[in-house]
Amino acid sequence: MDITKFIPLWIIYLSDMKFFIDTANLDQIREAHDLGVLDGVTTNPSLMAKEGIKGTENQYKHYVEICNIVNGDVSAEVISTDYDGMVREGEELAALNEHIVVKLPCTADGIRAVKYFAGKGIRTNCTLVFSIGQALLAAKAGATYVSPFVGRLDDISEDGTGLIRDIVEMYNYYGYNTMVLAASIRHTRHIIDCLKAGADVATCPLAAIKGLLNHPLTDSGLARFLEDYHRVNG
Ligand code: G3P
Repeated sequence: MDITKFIPLWIIYLSDMKFFIDTANLDQIREAHDLGVLDGVTTNPSLMAKEGIKGTENQYKHYVEICNIVNGDVSAEVISTDYDGMVREGEELAALNEHIVVKLPCTADGIRAVKYFAGKGIRTNCTLVFSIGQALLAAKAGATYVSPFVGRLDDISEDGTGLIRDIVEMYNYYGYNTMVLAASIRHTRHIIDCLKAGADVATCPLAAIKGLLNHPLTDSGLARFLEDYHRVNG
């Protein structure tokens, strides 16, 4: 039975696809924010290392700096792989700022920690998801977001956006509230395909978001408008 037909259309229209930028680079975050379409940020240990941010204190300061730029959710990932460590780290991260979303890997300890934080009202992003089974466990544990890695599946000839479509269909069928946050987006086409697959969020490199602006007919149309204007108006 397709339960979506019982959802009033105005609820569906109220939702929109959110854009998060997938970086810890403050300049790129500022540029994306100034574009006026940024809804949040995702980071991970590799992206933080890429910015050379060393030590817990500096990392926590950096997360707060990101939160101060973006009036939206900011995913900060734990380093611990054991449940107790995840809980301790996650509570520290969540206490930094109201926008912090605790990012946890889709492992047994990670799912257990998602469940714990769901009970505490602390929002989570279950990451490193590569199958519909993992997405099911994340939703059952009460994850706020689930992050299927589209690009990394494509890299091994699997269907990254096909997984997005399957998860969206499963969540809609069972009525799970977990939001599908398409991650490992490599280019603009990935955004379009994830949009069509029904993703709630796409977390992207800035270039992929800006790529949505590009169309030769926009450029040629604007040039023609200006040419016609100046031919008459000088
Ligand atoms: O948020 C996950 C994302 O940063 C992974 O992207 O390109 O390393 O697969 P990528």
